[in-house]
Amino acid sequence: MWLLGFLVASVAAAPVKPQQAAIASAHVLATQAGFEVLGKGGNAFDAAVAVAATLAVVEPQSSGIGGGGLFLLQRASDGHEVMVDARETAPAAVRVADYLGADGRPDRNHSINGPLSAAIPGEPAGLVWIAAHYGKLPLKTSLAPAIRIARAGFKPDRRFLDELAMRKDVLARYPGSAALYLVNGQVPKPGWTFRSPDLARVLERIAEQGNAGFYGGELARTLVDGVRSAGGNWTLADLEHYEVKERAPIAFDYRGWRIVSASPPSSGGVALAEMLNILSGYELDRLDTVHRTHLMVEAMRRAYRDRAEYLGDPDFVAMPIARLTSLDYAAGLRASIHPDKATPSELLPPYLDAAQGSHTSHFSIIDRDGNLAAGTQTVNLIFGSGLVVPGTGFVLNDEMDDFALVVGKPNAFGLVGNERNAPRPGSRPLSSMSPTFVIGPDRIGVLGTPGGSRIITMVLEGILAFIDGQTPEQLVANPRFHHQYLPDVIAVEKGAFTPAQIKALEAMGHQVHESDRRWGFMNAVSWDRTTGKLHAASDPRGASGSGVVR
Ligand code: DON
Repeated sequence: MWLLGFLVASVAAAPVKPQQAAIASAHVLATQAGFEVLGKGGNAFDAAVAVAATLAVVEPQSSGIGGGGLFLLQRASDGHEVMVDARETAPAAVRVADYLGADGRPDRNHSINGPLSAAIPGEPAGLVWIAAHYGKLPLKTSLAPAIRIARAGFKPDRRFLDELAMRKDVLARYPGSAALYLVNGQVPKPGWTFRSPDLARVLERIAEQGNAGFYGGELARTLVDGVRSAGGNWTLADLEHYEVKERAPIAFDYRGWRIVSASPPSSGGVALAEMLNILSGYELDRLDTVHRTHLMVEAMRRAYRDRAEYLGDPDFVAMPIARLTSLDYAAGLRASIHPDKATPSELLPPYLDAAQGSHTSHFSIIDRDGNLAAGTQTVNLIFGSGLVVPGTGFVLNDEMDDFALVVGKPNAFGLVGNERNAPRPGSRPLSSMSPTFVIGPDRIGVLGTPGGSRIITMVLEGILAFIDGQTPEQLVANPRFHHQYLPDVIAVEKGAFTPAQIKALEAMGHQVHESDRRWGFMNAVSWDRTTGKLHAASDPRGASGSGVVR
């Protein structure tokens, strides 16, 4: 009897493999590229390389070869889980003084525009690493769709052109950028075909030579000369020394679900663990919207405070990760939360309604074997630094702004930090990118989004919605709210709460700022392990997005 029971239980528990594959990304051409590579015998990791590289071509305002990314992988054959850290690094000659104006205050122009804002790219090395260690196909095959599209060109959508318009003035400063993205100095009209033969050549070089094709030889010299002649401080050694890091993800349990997310140099996993550990002490689904929101906001406030205080590059600073992610620590924080009164954050700097849209790109993939890949990649702000070194075909990132360049002074996302996130030669700026797996007994979700500091709270809301039983189609579309400790404001998308709910939150002491902007571009896939059924969905906020099961 016992044996029979055991057999029945183990048969019932055996996961049904996905019948198909699922890919959700920020662009239909990138999703197609992923399927093309799966069709050639590739796995989810080859598809991740194809999707990532194609996004670099078709969505250069969000991510690219001149940027970096964090890639969360889970291999079905042995359950191996890893975060491939292809985050950018500060050049050796980094000097905080370069980011200050004559008055000693931060000079945002230097941290978000042009050569000084650009950190050493990690994306190329990330793609090379994933293909070599996890893929089945040669890099040449996985990069083929991106190379083809870069050369043949494609017609950019409205979002691309609108975002180009937002950065036009900076792009116009640099001849290489103007030549690539502008037509006679103007934003191109709809219908324009965007070709990038230089980028095709760079990708080919990477396909043939691996890291040496980007971080050495002719391209490295071109990049260093271009950055230095524009006023930057890169050296050949900076490029030569760039290294991908494999890191153990942050993994923890939440009410019977296993959450796996990004570890430092991202703050995402630690903050998610802290927030969900706090929230695990409440019956969230029994609460009304106002109280549920209040408790989530109080968890967000506490996690973002710790983000500012403790987190940075793990290769350079010691961090109390075990404490921050422990249930005991969360219990202490939970005890400090009043059931219906806001805890004020100490300071109230002005509210920054910073553009936190879709400039960064997240994709999620599940293949037929059940391999999982979640990648969030970025050039930071729209079109990164705006600097294209002539002859390269891609924009350099402005990731230097993710450092706490001046202690306590907010960056472009209003985030503050201290010396733990100070720029040091070769160090990685603290990120919020949070590629995440949500693993339950019956269902697995893979999700993530762009959105700067709001990435982590969007992912939190996505995780809770998935656990509540929502499909990717539903959860990517949910209205969002966010709190990041400072400024001490709940930012909410219009329509997320009724006027009465906003009043009730205000009565608890919360300041609520309803924004006309919508934020995020979530791409999520899921796998029901009892049926093998897959879902894929792309955020309706991003028109070019594409979630496909095939
Ligand atoms: O790594 C980070 O946290 C930021 N560089 C991400 C930027 C971003 O999401 C911009 N998007 N809207």
